[in-house]
Amino acid sequence: MAGPFSVPGTTIVVTGGARGIGRAMAERFLQDGAACVVVADRDAEEARSAASALGERAHPMAFDAADEAAVADTVARIEEEHGPIDLWCSNAGVASGADLGGDAEWDLSWRIHVLAHVYAVRALAGRMAERGRGHLLVTSSAAGLLTNLDSAPYSATKHAAVALAEWMAIRYADDGIGVSCLCPQGVNTDMTAGDGPDSATRLGGDYIEPEDVAESVAVALSEGRFLILPHPEAAAYELRRVEDRDRWIGGMRRAWAKLRNAGTGRS
Ligand SMILES: NC(=O)c1ccc[n+]([C@@H]2O[C@H](COP(=O)([O-])OP(=O)(O)OC[C@H]3O[C@@H](n4cnc5c(N)ncnc54)[C@H](O)[C@@H]3O)[C@@H](O)[C@H]2O)c1
Repeated sequence: MAGPFSVPGTTIVVTGGARGIGRAMAERFLQDGAACVVVADRDAEEARSAASALGERAHPMAFDAADEAAVADTVARIEEEHGPIDLWCSNAGVASGADLGGDAEWDLSWRIHVLAHVYAVRALAGRMAERGRGHLLVTSSAAGLLTNLDSAPYSATKHAAVALAEWMAIRYADDGIGVSCLCPQGVNTDMTAGDGPDSATRLGGDYIEPEDVAESVAVALSEGRFLILPHPEAAAYELRRVEDRDRWIGGMRRAWAKLRNAGTGRS
């Protein structure tokens, strides 16, 4: 049965680890005594520079989290070079598809926000089950619990990520595999650097720093919790949403009208 995850001495992989939330998690795991943290990212250059800044227990790995063969190769290579993976943080993500989005944006969002986690599970669940231990962390978003009004592909695929993480938590616990699902609201990273005052993400409240997210992750892992909410108010929003969907949709419609009327250029 899965329980709390203890970081000291472990081997950890963070996808999308070169920047933002992933990089802050990698740094925090190293501070907390991880033996090895692999900074796995599509951007090879940025992964190298992040790993070298993080010190000798950090290792860069260039890979595409949305390519199943690359994920399988990466898992095998890391286990060969650094030993069994104790924690895989499936964190890479993209902000793709304004409004309803086009097919290419839906495809990209689906691949990186959902299939990437499936590929990680395919490559790792058997290995972890054999060892009777391991932990998988899925970075979704508060957009996966509530609604991101800026992007339908982002919101829908992040909802799918929460559903998948719940499925994993139920199905793999008896194999000794823990699962956590990280759902932040706004965080100051490259992904949100272009957010103007009219960004719907701002409806949730103030943006926090990646290090604040890493702190929430560290506490939640040590307590063996599934849902990680670096913005505690997201729990109250989610409760309000499930209590009365019609009231929730009415409130969100009013918020959307306010954003439009604030001279955003949207019609
Ligand atoms: N910033 C926010 O406000 C916020 C809020 C909620 C959830 N999130 C989620 O947190 C995660 C990290 O976001 P961030 O804000 O740190 O973004 P970021 O853009 O700062 O970093 C994302 C990293 O993922 C990497 N990446 C993208 N696609 C990849 C792929 N296919 N394979 C490997 N690496 C890939 C990028 O190269 C980049 O280094 C994402 O899943 C995002 O959706 C972010």
